[in-house]
Amino acid sequence: MRAIAISGFGQEPELMTLPIPAPGPDDVLVRLHAAGLNPIDWKIADGSFRTSTEDFPLVLGIDGAGVVDKVGPAVTAFRPGDEVYGQFRGSYADYALATPVLAPMPKGMIFSQAAAVPIATTTAYNMVETAKVVPGQIVLVSGATGGVGQQAVQFAVGAGATVIATATADMAEHMRRLGAAELVDHTLRPVAEQVLALHPGGIDAVLDLVSADPVALTELAQTVRPGGTVVTTLFSADPEALAAREIVGVNLNNKAGAELLTLVADLIDAGKLLVRIDNLVSLRDAPSALDRNKAGLSRGKTVIEI
Ligand SMILES: NC(=O)c1ccc[n+]([C@@H]2O[C@H](COP(=O)([O-])OP(=O)(O)OC[C@H]3O[C@@H](n4cnc5c(N)ncnc54)[C@H](OP(=O)(O)O)[C@@H]3O)[C@@H](O)[C@H]2O)c1
Repeated sequence: MRAIAISGFGQEPELMTLPIPAPGPDDVLVRLHAAGLNPIDWKIADGSFRTSTEDFPLVLGIDGAGVVDKVGPAVTAFRPGDEVYGQFRGSYADYALATPVLAPMPKGMIFSQAAAVPIATTTAYNMVETAKVVPGQIVLVSGATGGVGQQAVQFAVGAGATVIATATADMAEHMRRLGAAELVDHTLRPVAEQVLALHPGGIDAVLDLVSADPVALTELAQTVRPGGTVVTTLFSADPEALAAREIVGVNLNNKAGAELLTLVADLIDAGKLLVRIDNLVSLRDAPSALDRNKAGLSRGKTVIEI
């Protein structure tokens, strides 16, 4: 089968011909039609996010959608021919074994749309849940124009919050369409300064998707009033220091199950949640799509058609 894989951490991802994985008793083997690109894919490739596996060649990609090809004898939930989406062990390939995060694809979805959903949308959902957003609160989404951010804006709006989204002018209209009430352009002035100018009394929560540097996150946290919450996906929060200011700080390591996947799929199917595909590429072009995302040029999801 064709696969985009690395032969070692830090090696360039390349198109390889590899054997189709053989399903074990509990495994579901899927013929993939689309894979979703996430920043963790290039973080795994460059070695900055080490996985437990050291088996090379390592096929890249987690998110994907396709058709069940074979199942192990212990599998009862899926059968060959089922259209499914979820998380895989190497989704940038013709075939991959699914993880337990697998759900039937809703009828209204096409493979490329479904592949864009798993990590970004479930992370966004869990960020808003973690921040315990309630109606009337003011929530900043930092990194709002990205794959996770666009979904976080919609979930926070759905929870009844007034959402401030970071966005450059070219993304303003789209972010308003997603429900953002206020926009701050992170390329013009410090975000914290702009948020405090809008809300001198502070806001209720920051959902951060960009502050790898703890100093940058501390600066954003200055916008949060006592009693508020800061959730980041970049593991840069210092919960103790934030607690001293009566702020709950959470470094979110996303966990999703098939149930959450089904919940978000139903929202998308019902037209209550939009997924913006920013870039649709072929499997051969996946390495350059990874470079593009790493360079910070994505504005929403990148999907690889297989
Ligand atoms: N911990 C977990 O479980 C978990 C789960 C999912 C994702 N993550 C991490 O969360 C991060 C976001 O993921 P993603 O998929 O949303 O990434 P993404 O789609 O690549 O996000 C890119 C977006 O970030 C915006 N951005 C970059 N710098 C910014 C800044 N300083 N201020 C405001 N916006 C900025 C960009 O807009 P401009 O081009 O306009 O700057 C772009 O729209 C990644 O680092 C990812 O690895 C972690």
